Amino acid sequence: MAQRFLVSRRDFMRTGVIGTAGLAMGATRPAVVAPSDRITIGMIGAGARAHQLVEAFKQFPEMEVVAACDAYTGRLHRMRDRTGRKIDIMADYREIINRSDIDAVVISSPDHWHYRHSVDSLNAGKHAYIEKPLTYSIEEGLDIIEAQKKLNLAVQVGSPGPGGVLVQKARQMIREGKLGQVTMVRASTNRNTASGAWIYPIPPDASPKTVDWDLFLGSAPKRPYSPERFFRWRCYKDYSGGMSTDLYVHTCTTINYVMGAQIPESVMAMGGLYRWTRSRDVPDTINASLKYREGFMVSLSGTFNNQGGSGGGMRILGTEGSLVFGGGLRFIPERVNESNGWITDSWPKDLADAYIADPAVRLEEMPSSRPQAAVEGEEVYFSEGQASILAHIQEWLDAIRNGSATKENAEVGHHAAACAHMINSSLEMEKTVYWDGQHLTAK
Ligand SMILES: NC(=O)c1ccc[n+]([C@@H]2O[C@H](COP(=O)([O-])OP(=O)(O)OC[C@H]3O[C@@H](n4cnc5c(N)ncnc54)[C@H](O)[C@@H]3O)[C@@H](O)[C@H]2O)c1
Repeated sequence: MAQRFLVSRRDFMRTGVIGTAGLAMGATRPAVVAPSDRITIGMIGAGARAHQLVEAFKQFPEMEVVAACDAYTGRLHRMRDRTGRKIDIMADYREIINRSDIDAVVISSPDHWHYRHSVDSLNAGKHAYIEKPLTYSIEEGLDIIEAQKKLNLAVQVGSPGPGGVLVQKARQMIREGKLGQVTMVRASTNRNTASGAWIYPIPPDASPKTVDWDLFLGSAPKRPYSPERFFRWRCYKDYSGGMSTDLYVHTCTTINYVMGAQIPESVMAMGGLYRWTRSRDVPDTINASLKYREGFMVSLSGTFNNQGGSGGGMRILGTEGSLVFGGGLRFIPERVNESNGWITDSWPKDLADAYIADPAVRLEEMPSSRPQAAVEGEEVYFSEGQASILAHIQEWLDAIRNGSATKENAEVGHHAAACAHMINSSLEMEKTVYWDGQHLTAK
């Protein structure tokens, strides 16, 4: 079996073999964004993901977080600590987008706020890194795409999968036809813990004094203060699309990228809430089928009630071979042989004997008569270098400076989120749903 290590050019630069990314980019930086070399950032939503991102930003000396807003003071104070206590902190995102010294925003608020935060930030002329899912409902994507296009701003949506070298290798192999005709992708995501099911610990200082409950609710239905809803918002339909928008959106981003696909033409899904009944109103188990115009189907399956061995994975299935993600990327050539002996065994004996004596038939039906090379050829690839998230951020910074493309602009983010919304609509309506680019219909 061939084993190969892949290092992306970006990872190569970031590991310092060519030079630091900051130096490499500084040399070619046109004065597009700011008078200085810095890219100043405002964080809209300073929760768990925002803190992860800010840690990653430390790899990019040209990025400077200057402000953050959030609806819980504890996270703002921690963000201030994390960034060297220099940033301005506040509750209202409008104080960030109205500042002329801020070039770009990172939107990592709960999903029901993404639309408002994205449209307002883009209309204010801010480049935006918008956490997945881009949207809370499918139609919202159209306005965000328009807002991005209006001022030609750099948008990167936060599923970093396509930035990874293994995903890029998979896309290349599929494009080169190594898998033959790909008609099926099977993927699953499985968990079996409370934290995996989003039952996160609630900070002991949480109270209506430290939490701005009305700010969190925004356009969501009014309810009395609930720390469970505030800190575990993924569990509730008012703020989230549950497993589909939290987990499948990553899978769909990667599938759309490697398959060169956009949006499913139809989706059928079923879901159930079987176990975590007291903590949520979103399903804990979903099976979904997505049918694409590009000529393939996707089977997505997930549960929070068993981790399914390895927790899940993805297989891309073609007539000539499969690609398997998990512990690297494995190409497995198809090892198939025709099998008609049991049919011809019912023919008149002389005809059956003549059939199997045919060299062309023997080659197809008796693998041992085949040259060995035809059944070998398994390949496995491992990724060396740094995480895909760094490539994803770097690509956004390049786009801010140079106007270059990002892999996950608003349109791409809309398509991935649409997969999730179609799954949820189908399972809620118990119908097949269709998207015509403007409207969702069901039959
Ligand atoms: N790409 C990834 O791998 C990844 C991982 C985790 C989360 N995410 C995404 O990041 C986003 C945030 O998730 P999280 O896990 O950090 O959740 P979180 O609850 O930890 O953080 C959300 C923060 O937003 C704040 N907030 C609520 N309403 C607000 C408002 N109106 N204005 C400003 N701030 C407000 C909350 O106080 C909270 O601190 C979600 O969209 C999630 O899907 C992406």
